[in-house]
Amino acid sequence: MPTTQKSDAIALLKEDHRKVEKLFESFEKARDTKRKRALVQEICTELCIHTIIEEEIFYPACKDAIEDGDILEESYVEHDGAKVLIAELLESEPDAEFYDAKVSVLSEMIKHHVKEEEKRSEGLFAQAKQAGLDLERLGQRLTERKQALKEEFADGAKLPPPHTRSFTGHELVQDTPVQVSAAPR
Ligand SMILES: [Fe+2]
Ligand SMILES: [Fe+2]
Repeated sequence: MPTTQKSDAIALLKEDHRKVEKLFESFEKARDTKRKRALVQEICTELCIHTIIEEEIFYPACKDAIEDGDILEESYVEHDGAKVLIAELLESEPDAEFYDAKVSVLSEMIKHHVKEEEKRSEGLFAQAKQAGLDLERLGQRLTERKQALKEEFADGAKLPPPHTRSFTGHELVQDTPVQVSAAPR
């Protein structure tokens, strides 16, 4: 492993954020179905891995160290909200009704969430830093877990359904999809 590689937990998580932002930008410009499908697969894989490593390693470490429990609770709920759209996208095709809208709403949700994590002084990362967490050690654990998950999800392997951590499983009834596109002339 090159010694210049960033190993600090916050730097690693921020790197993931930047990567996903770029993928969403590419999706906005993408026109053909194949490219859209590939980008969404990549976005969902990145987000699945990122949410898992935060929920398994980073958030529990924050829970023990920071005093602001609200920010952490909201983080879990924001992750779970995003997972609903991720699960939808994983099961649909780019030419499906609402597909682009789902990607764009997911992108907005992630933007908001990332802002909350990275906000100066009161964001989750800033609070983790102020609390004196061992960011190097956490970074190592995040890297190891990320590597293992990357191998698990490599080569287009089907992603498992996302696991929610804060939702309590209320049933949703899938009614007939609404028709919003203009009828073909
Ligand atoms: Fe994050
Ligand atoms: Fe997060």
